[in-house]
Amino acid sequence: MAELTTLASPLDVGGVKIRNRVFLAPMSGITDEPFRQRAYGHGAGLVVSEMVASGELAKGRAGCDLRIRHSGLPVHMVQLAGREAVHMAEGARIAAGESADIIDINMGCPAKKVTGGYAGSALMRDLDHALSLIEAVVGAVSVPVTVKMRLGWDESALNAPMLARRAEQAGVSMVTVHGRTRCQFYQGKADWRAIARVKQAVSIPVVANGDVGSPEEAATILEQSGADAVMIGRAHYGAPWIAGSIASIAGGVSAPGIPHAPQALADYVVSHYEDMLSLYGAESGLRQARKHLGWYLDRHASDVSAEQRKAILTSFKPGEVVAELCRVFADGAQPTSLRSAA
Ligand SMILES: Cc1cc2nc3c(=O)[nH]c(=O)nc-3n(C[C@H](O)[C@H](O)[C@H](O)COP(=O)(O)O)c2cc1C
Repeated sequence: MAELTTLASPLDVGGVKIRNRVFLAPMSGITDEPFRQRAYGHGAGLVVSEMVASGELAKGRAGCDLRIRHSGLPVHMVQLAGREAVHMAEGARIAAGESADIIDINMGCPAKKVTGGYAGSALMRDLDHALSLIEAVVGAVSVPVTVKMRLGWDESALNAPMLARRAEQAGVSMVTVHGRTRCQFYQGKADWRAIARVKQAVSIPVVANGDVGSPEEAATILEQSGADAVMIGRAHYGAPWIAGSIASIAGGVSAPGIPHAPQALADYVVSHYEDMLSLYGAESGLRQARKHLGWYLDRHASDVSAEQRKAILTSFKPGEVVAELCRVFADGAQPTSLRSAA
């Protein structure tokens, strides 16, 4: 598969060198700093912050700092959402002040609470307004600006090629296209061939996204779309190494850090849990970590008993959670480094 080996080669995004072409998708509530560090450590070419609302960021609202802060990775990419040019420009300046190397603009989020505020994919209904936001961000910072979009609002308005072309003319360095319309939300199957129309409309790199989880699918989306790179989201649930492992297979090397043995898996899950408690504080961290623990259980311990699952996903005592995780993943052996049980 020629397309697969292509994924191992670097990509230039407005002068920023990206080490390979398999990216972790931004996912609000999921791809926080601990998750991105793991995904990048396993070899993902690029990781992106969760979206941050530019209006909230500009007002200095709590929580925004955690979303935009530099996690020490070589390329720091921050995604902004919003509908006011003044907030988008200010948000971009704040992110650039946090040493962002790339600013991404969210024009794909389908959630009602985002589109209801005319942000996210609602911007695809008014390309002039979308362009005013792009121009404001491009004008505010000297780092490359990218845009993430869907195919359009609905089947009758597949205007991603037009938005991408106008974004390129406004100075955008790369576009990512999720092969669904806003009105599809996450239903049906992403249309990988439709992304080809965006690729044909621009000469900047195009990233194809939607329903990819394996090397074969990564090669096929590239072949059908002609895109330059692939972005992967939900396939990472319970497996932060998916993008890295596909990039590694493409490059003919083995992905670093994938936990295969039971003890390694227990250590991995516990350290992810503990990093979340450190980042958010124990009270909020343990709630936010539950979805990840649920996915790790679904994926790697599907025979876990209902009582054990309940104990892990409802306990408010980190030490208990860790002990139970060790029982489930490593027959009770303690993790090699233990922080929260102490
Ligand atoms: C829970 C969740 C949160 C998401 N948050 C964001 C976000 O913050 N910014 C964004 O551009 N897309 C967001 N997305 C969309 C993903 O980046 C991606 O486009 C979508 O999941 C399709 O890719 P996949 O099939 O590989 O998951 C989110 C998706 C999910 C499922």
